[in-house]
Amino acid sequence: MNEDQLHQIINLPKTELHLHFEGGAPPAFIRGLAKEKNIDLSRIFNEDGSYAYRDFVHFLSVYEAATSVLKTPEDFARLCTAVLEQSAENGVVYSETFLSPDFCGGGDVAAWREYLHAIREAAEAAEKSHGITLRGVVTCIRHFGPEQAKTAALCAAETADDWLVGFGMAGDENKGKQRDYAYSFDMAREAGLHLTSHAGEWRGPQEVREAVEDLGVSRIGHGVRAIGDLAVVDMLAEQGVTLEVCPGSNVFLGVFPSLDKHPIEQLRDRGVNVTVSTDDPPFFHTTMRREYDALAKTFGWDEEIFTELNRTAMQAAFCDADTRDAILKKLERP
Ligand code: ADE
Ligand code: ZN
Repeated sequence: MNEDQLHQIINLPKTELHLHFEGGAPPAFIRGLAKEKNIDLSRIFNEDGSYAYRDFVHFLSVYEAATSVLKTPEDFARLCTAVLEQSAENGVVYSETFLSPDFCGGGDVAAWREYLHAIREAAEAAEKSHGITLRGVVTCIRHFGPEQAKTAALCAAETADDWLVGFGMAGDENKGKQRDYAYSFDMAREAGLHLTSHAGEWRGPQEVREAVEDLGVSRIGHGVRAIGDLAVVDMLAEQGVTLEVCPGSNVFLGVFPSLDKHPIEQLRDRGVNVTVSTDDPPFFHTTMRREYDALAKTFGWDEEIFTELNRTAMQAAFCDADTRDAILKKLERP
């Protein structure tokens, strides 16, 4: 692949399905808010200003510490602007982001509505100024437990509409079972929300199977460890379940030792719908452009393959048909 082809690839219009809202916060943004609010957060930063953590579980606690400076709806609106500016700079034209009522009003529905309103206003402004469309997916946090998940699901169900389009689960996959959260997923489904759950990032193929069978999700966050059991891979392919794959995140956190050992190509070759996202870009020193650059160099994927990945993502997107069609048009080559 020559420089010109690589340039074309990294500048393609992109769609991203798996982006944790707070996880998109640039460290300088969080440091700025901490300073404004006189909160000492120095322990979560390295000397070079990046986020400091040792492993995945520590990452989750640093994530929550960083999030603790986001207190008001206005703070979340400012975060939305900062995150969408970064995404738009990377050529992202459509993004779905995980929002957690736990961090936005503590699970209280009335408070959640205020946060959501502020985030949506900021997203609408970014759509006008930067041409990026955002939709929200409420996520419960697995390590906060099934009872707290129900409050997140209730917030999601009460505010489900053409912007708040999905419900999912993030957090520590090693805590409990997927089916412990079935009540919350049922509530979300009945409210018309589309479903996704983190599975097969840390645990094996069985976890991925359980997310599909016990929660009825149409997408899986990560799902990459399904590769350990080809029967699970084939089930994903047959049922058309889409994986929100975050290769840079997986390599940074040590799920796979390097990108050339990552199973994204094998999964794709076996017929699974794979898509590409960043997860928590500043935490993992990645961007959508960097993901495309690394995938093109490692697997030799050409522009056609990346365009196909983006189309796959839009087919699996949780937005309405008009939005999907409008974004699919943006993905067409001129
Ligand atoms: N929350 C933020 N990033 C996450 C990840 N990669 N896995 C699980 N929960 C998360
Ligand atoms: Zn994630």
